[in-house]
Amino acid sequence: MSEGIRIYLTGSCEGFEKLREALAQQPGIEVVGSAQQVADASGALQGGHLDCVLHGTSSSTLPAHEITAIRELTRVPLLVLASGEASALLDDALGADVADVVLLPALTENVVFAIRKATHAPRRTAAAGNREGRIITVFSPKGGTGKTVIATNLSAALAKTAGRRTLLLDLDLQFGDAAIMLGIEPEKTIFDLVSAPGELDPDKLAGYTTKHKSGVDILPAPLRPEDAELVTEAKLGRLIEVARLCYDAIVVDTSPFFHGPMLATLDRTDELLLVCSLDVPTLKNVRLALGTLEMLSFPPARIGIVLNRANTKVGMKQREVEAALEQKVRYEVPSDRAVPLTVNRGAAAVLAEPGSDFSKSIESMAKGVFPTEEPKRGLRLRPSFARAA
Ligand SMILES: Nc1ncnc2c1ncn2[C@@H]1O[C@H](COP(=O)(O)OP(=O)(O)OP(=O)(O)O)[C@@H](O)[C@H]1O
Ligand SMILES: [Mg+2]
Repeated sequence: MSEGIRIYLTGSCEGFEKLREALAQQPGIEVVGSAQQVADASGALQGGHLDCVLHGTSSSTLPAHEITAIRELTRVPLLVLASGEASALLDDALGADVADVVLLPALTENVVFAIRKATHAPRRTAAAGNREGRIITVFSPKGGTGKTVIATNLSAALAKTAGRRTLLLDLDLQFGDAAIMLGIEPEKTIFDLVSAPGELDPDKLAGYTTKHKSGVDILPAPLRPEDAELVTEAKLGRLIEVARLCYDAIVVDTSPFFHGPMLATLDRTDELLLVCSLDVPTLKNVRLALGTLEMLSFPPARIGIVLNRANTKVGMKQREVEAALEQKVRYEVPSDRAVPLTVNRGAAAVLAEPGSDFSKSIESMAKGVFPTEEPKRGLRLRPSFARAA
């Protein structure tokens, strides 16, 4: 899952093309793509899991408009590559949101050093103690495929069985039903959180979540569909950053659309569970979604295909799904009566019917989404303490 430093190049200047080609050959650097116009790069800048953007300019002053346009799409470190007379540009850059300026021509090694330096700082901070929760997004481009059933049960399994501090975030902003599926009548929702005054921090987040008996904290979708649009990309981006500090796992339930908040989530997603089922229209849409994700430069290694109702006999086989999607199914979830029975009782199947085939498949998914470490048990920190950890 570790890809090198993911960079994207925008703009142009003398020596830009040559540098791009040289960077593509560098070990530890992954050139995700490039586009002369920032507007043409908006998908990748928002959803591409980039570590750094390099913007080329032949202007002798700082290209402020372009930098603002990039900054509206991504907050990753930005290096400016300049090929012209640059003394005014260097002065401007001092006060701007720019990590560094590299004057071309430059040795590729020097540019690589500047990229490493610019992308190093946040990692050092993380190693120094800030928590980095894992974002697991459950998505399907088709309605009714089982996203909410999987997201609710996966989060309950992560909290209860694996002992992870887990947040279930319902991003099906208009018609979210994650809370009701877990038998919770929420008093506060994501709408209340984003419309409350003041800066969002871990204490504030803790005041808007509802605890389920599995241990999962839930941040439900707005109660009224018309309130969805107040949950903007920027607010959601901040919310996820704060949630990462307080939780081991943030499971995101979604609607079947690539809307703005979904792009902000994708940009921070560590594992995208793409739910598919054994029917042709769903398969067609999942294929299309894979194409969109590729266009957004979403890292393919982070996509896990989930085949829901995998055991149903409907004249289509798992291998046909894999052939159509050109990738293997990572998780199989069987069709199981325990699901509708527990959904209708407002209970999580993994708690109420732990021996069912469905629950067993979700437990194994819960192990799979944290592949490399041992489960964490023991001290459960309140978000306010987690901040100081
Ligand atoms: N593995 C399964 N076995 C049996 N029933 C299932 C299974 N998965 C989902 N279902 C049933 O399908 C229904 C739809 O599932 P769910 O609400 O999770 O889909 P969704 O993708 O979240 O839908 P929407 O797009 O409307 O949010 C549920 O009520 C559930 O009972
Ligand atoms: Mg749903």
